[in-house]
Amino acid sequence: MTSQDQSELKRAVAQAAVQEIRSKLRRDTVLGVGSGSTVNLFIEALAPLRDDFAGAVASSTETERRLRAAGIEVFDLNQAGTLSVYVDGADEIDHDFAMIKGGGAALTREKIVAACAKEFICIADGSKLVRQLGGFPLPVEVIPMARSYVAREMVKLGFSPVYRQGVVTDNGHQIIDLFDQLIDDAREMETRINQIAGVVTNGLFAHRGADLLLLGTAEGVQRLI
Ligand code: 5RP
Repeated sequence: MTSQDQSELKRAVAQAAVQEIRSKLRRDTVLGVGSGSTVNLFIEALAPLRDDFAGAVASSTETERRLRAAGIEVFDLNQAGTLSVYVDGADEIDHDFAMIKGGGAALTREKIVAACAKEFICIADGSKLVRQLGGFPLPVEVIPMARSYVAREMVKLGFSPVYRQGVVTDNGHQIIDLFDQLIDDAREMETRINQIAGVVTNGLFAHRGADLLLLGTAEGVQRLI
């Protein structure tokens, strides 16, 4: 698949997500909006409906900037409370709708906003659907002073950790990417990595996976529940 084909699939699922939520929008609806190139297209597609809902909570400073540029009001999560819907992409998603996220380093805020949403709609091109998670390196956000310790603990779990040089998250932390291990039990691994001192969170979204997957394929957008 060329990158242009992939972009077209991302655009198609972004538009499908707008159609999906359109009838659910009320004047007081606050949406959760994720991060990444697919979500950027979703924000573009959502912009014409800006007057039909109250606004959105952003999962990254970049998403916040794009929402504002699209004329969509941005709310602080503490003011917004429970969100009706969260729309976000994924780096990988399996058939149980567990995901690896954080390729764009926004995993912690994404996980927080997703936790506050009644429904998680994942928008992804077909290349993201996998039998088993772990082909994509699993991001872990760490407190900077704990980076080497966390990396050593990850080696004990069988991963090959690589420090994502030059990246500082919106929360002021660093990212380690975990290579070389397919994940048998995503929930167990999510919990296990999060127990390690210095880990802020990891990019497995298994305990709170997606509820609906809009998957872009050459045959059209598949709506999978
Ligand atoms: C960012 C994410 C993104 O959702 C993920 O990286 C997918 O991005 P894209 O839509 O650009 O393929 O988790 O932290």
